[in-house]
Amino acid sequence: MTRQLETHRDYYHKGFASKLLNKVLYELKRDKIDTIYSIVRNHNYKSLNFHYKNGFSVENKDDVDTKFVLNVKDQIRKELFDNWANNYNKSVIKSEQEETYPFAGYSNIKYQIIDIVTKRSFAHILDMGVGTGEITCPLYNLGYRVTGVDLSEKMIDIAKKKLPNAIFICDTFQNSLTKLNAQYDFIIFNYSIHHLDYQSQIDLLLKINENLSSQGRIIIGDVSTINREDMKKLQEKYNSIWDDEEYYPILDIYQKSELRNYYKISYDKINEVAGLFELLKI
Ligand SMILES: C[S@@+](CC[C@H](N)C(=O)[O-])C[C@H]1O[C@@H](n2cnc3c(N)ncnc32)[C@H](O)[C@@H]1O
Repeated sequence: MTRQLETHRDYYHKGFASKLLNKVLYELKRDKIDTIYSIVRNHNYKSLNFHYKNGFSVENKDDVDTKFVLNVKDQIRKELFDNWANNYNKSVIKSEQEETYPFAGYSNIKYQIIDIVTKRSFAHILDMGVGTGEITCPLYNLGYRVTGVDLSEKMIDIAKKKLPNAIFICDTFQNSLTKLNAQYDFIIFNYSIHHLDYQSQIDLLLKINENLSSQGRIIIGDVSTINREDMKKLQEKYNSIWDDEEYYPILDIYQKSELRNYYKISYDKINEVAGLFELLKI
């Protein structure tokens, strides 16, 4: 399907094109269209800049044209997290204090992660979905090396203030894999892997095995359950505020997947909502 999107010249430089793109993204998502491609003449700097600024990445380029690609869901998610960044920590505290879905147990998970990591005196940590840096900040302050990945630049802006010398990659989990150039002792997904469907979680956890040092561990803190039935019960309990677009980790799904050939999987249930997975590289 080909569509031309153009802003009238009277409306240039007023931000209308970005707003229009945003509206189009929601319509595409509703129509279950995942990807947009866009071809721009190489001399059209204005349009090229627009694409770079609005989350498109270059798929290929020849002497005449640049072909861009944009993942609809990722771009919508980026917008949501950019808009949430300033209030994110407050939302976590509120949900945690009310001991309710989704963040009940967040601090408990944080302290458990700190306990696990600090058993080693030196480690390089990869925080996937680093957000505002809340989880890895105490470890950074203790001298651990941290690399943070997040698709939201506003989240990363906040994290950078707390972890000024950490390395940050502003991209999706998938795209970040080609940019990782180290072996990590710990890879943390705290309340972040649920943005991928179950098969994509498994594929990512398998791929990222290459980036784990020997004896390295993946730590996943999240809303989670032992099996699908428990997840269904949790969903029923919190039906009015449940986020249907998220896929919370389920021990059973991980244990029955190919992951068991690459990791020793353990799970610690923290409360009715949350739990902590450890995937030890074997
Ligand atoms: C709920 S927040 C959790 C942040 C942090 N880990 C914490 O525990 O406070 C989820 C984070 O994952 C990021 N995120 C979501 N989907 C992502 C993806 N596909 N690739 C990279 N980051 C993603 C969001 O931008 C957001 O900062």
